[in-house]
Formats: sequence, structure tokens, C-alpha cells
Amino acid sequence: EWTPEAFVDMTVDELREKVGDDKVVLGLSGGVDSTVAAVLLHKAIGKNLYCIFVNNGLLRKNEFDSVLDQYKDMGLNVKGVDSSARFLDALAGKSDPEEKRKTIGRVFIEVFDDEAHLLKDVKFLAQGTIYPDVIESISVNGPSATIKSHHNVGGLPDFMKLKVVEPLRMLFKDEVRRVGAEMGIDPELLGRHPFPGPGLAIRILGDITPEKVRVLQEVDHIFIQGLKDWMLYDKVWQAGAILLPVNSVGVMGDERTYEKVVALRAVESTDGMTADWVNLPYDFLQKISNTIINRVKGVNRVVYDISSKPPATIEWE
Ligand code: XMP
Repeated sequence: EWTPEAFVDMTVDELREKVGDDKVVLGLSGGVDSTVAAVLLHKAIGKNLYCIFVNNGLLRKNEFDSVLDQYKDMGLNVKGVDSSARFLDALAGKSDPEEKRKTIGRVFIEVFDDEAHLLKDVKFLAQGTIYPDVIESISVNGPSATIKSHHNVGGLPDFMKLKVVEPLRMLFKDEVRRVGAEMGIDPELLGRHPFPGPGLAIRILGDITPEKVRVLQEVDHIFIQGLKDWMLYDKVWQAGAILLPVNSVGVMGDERTYEKVVALRAVESTDGMTADWVNLPYDFLQKISNTIINRVKGVNRVVYDISSKPPATIEWE
């Protein structure tokens, strides 16, 4: 029978065996998977683990600072790298979802390559890839229908010469959370909703500008904070807001407005492979919608996504 305790023991041994005295670089996202992978590796190889947290300019409001803060007490060696401008420049003018994902994946690799060179003699790159990531990417590379390219799966370009370590490759999210709890990771961190690697880029439909990122960060923050305040956050598997490439007519005072529409999405799921939209209380949706429209300049309409996966997906791109 699978237990988190046995998994930790076995994986720590395997990682020691595989990595030896070499250096490993790991990309942290602040989320459950990469954090659990980091703590496992830290247990196995200690100071030879170098964690990098990249700001791709597509994180949630204040997330770069709050995530760095959260890692301070965990004993990990974490470096924050602010590459926002590099990502946003590379994305400028791109509106195709796959092109956006690929661009982000490419820039991530470039940033990592730069950082790995600074560290010298790094042999391994560790990632928090979990089983559903692997599955959804296989269908991408297969001859049949393409779902989407998962930016953190699919290996590395040859020039990097780093070997990949993915200790969570065979686990589902709930198992990853149990492994994290077993190692004493803060329950609040383990309870965080999943957030995609390409971040807000795949929730801003169409092309990305710094202004759209800012608007969506504000909307998302009101929604997520609202879920927490109303004790709904833990009842939902994942939630977020989507900025639609649509303007609609509204009124503000005596003025006609013609501004953006945002969609709110909240789903129940166990592994992200299938999902149902959550029946959030109308009172809550009413409050959140009013707050968003009153506070976020440039948004005059809020809609709620009532589609399940399949046939819809969780993200809109
Ligand atoms: P979909 O939209 O495919 O999402 O129903 C399933 C889960 O995967 C996340 N997701 C991604 N995560 N890179 C990631 O790291 C990606 O490109 C990506 N696309 C979707 C999504 O947030 C959900 O949790």
C-alpha cells in the first residue's frame, strides 16, 4: 500500500543515489508541486540544491514578494529572479494560445540556463512535474488531437546538457499534498490552489500588455481574497479570473461606458483531468461582482463560467 512516509524514504534514497554530490537547480513557483519537490530534494542533498523563483511578470498580485517571504523560514536556498520585462517583451503582440505558451516556455529555459551558468557545474534540473502534467502532454505530442503543450514537460534543449529530475512524476495532486504534510510543510501552502506555469498569460485572452496584467491581477485578487473571507477557498479546487477580449456597453453615473468583461471561474476537481463548476452562493457572487466593477477601472461587466471539463477546460486557453 502506498503511504507518504514510505514514498519520502524511498525517494530520498533514490535522489541521493541519482544525484550524488552534484548540484541541482530547481524552479520554484510558490505552489504545492515545486515546493514539495524542493523539500524532498533538500532532504536528500541539502545545500547542493539551488532553488530559483522566477518572476515572469504573469504572477498574481504581490505574489513574487509574498512567495519569497514564505520560503524564508523553510531552510531552502532560494534566489528570486525578476525577469518580468524579458517575458512581457517576448510576448508582445502574440495572441495565439500555443504561441504564448511556447514563448513562455522558451524564456523560462533561457532564464534558467543563465542562472545555471552563474552557479557553475550544475548537472541536474529538478521540476515539480506531476502525473496529470505528464498525461496531458503525451496527448499533445501524439498524432491525434492536440490539447495543449505543457510548458514544463517535454525535456530540455540539448544545449543545456542538464539531466532532468522529477521526483513527483508518478503522483497525483492529493498524494503530493500528503507527501508535503508528511514532511511538515505549512498546511496553508499545501492548500494553495493550483496555478498554471504560464500564469495570467493564459487568462488574458489575446495579446498581453502590462496594463491588462495589472487589471487582471486586481480582479483576481478581489475574487481570491473574497473566497478566503467567505470561507469558500478550501471548498474550491481552483479559482481565478479571465480577462476577455470583449468590450461591452455599461453606464456609470450619467456616462455611457464601453469597457472590458471579466469571467470568474471556480471548479471542483481531484486531479484537474475532469472538473465541475462550483455552485458558489449568489450572495457571494453579487458582492464580488460589485466590488470588481466599483474598484477596477476598465471593467464594467462580470460573468461566471458554468462549464464543466470536459468538454470545456479549466483554463480558457
Ligand atoms: P486545463 O485548462 O487543461 O487545466 O483544464 C488543467 C490544470 O492544468 C493547469 N494548466 C497548466 N499548468 N502549464 C501549467 O503548469 C500549463 O501550460 C497549463 N495549462 C493548464 C490548469 O491551471 C489546471 O490546474
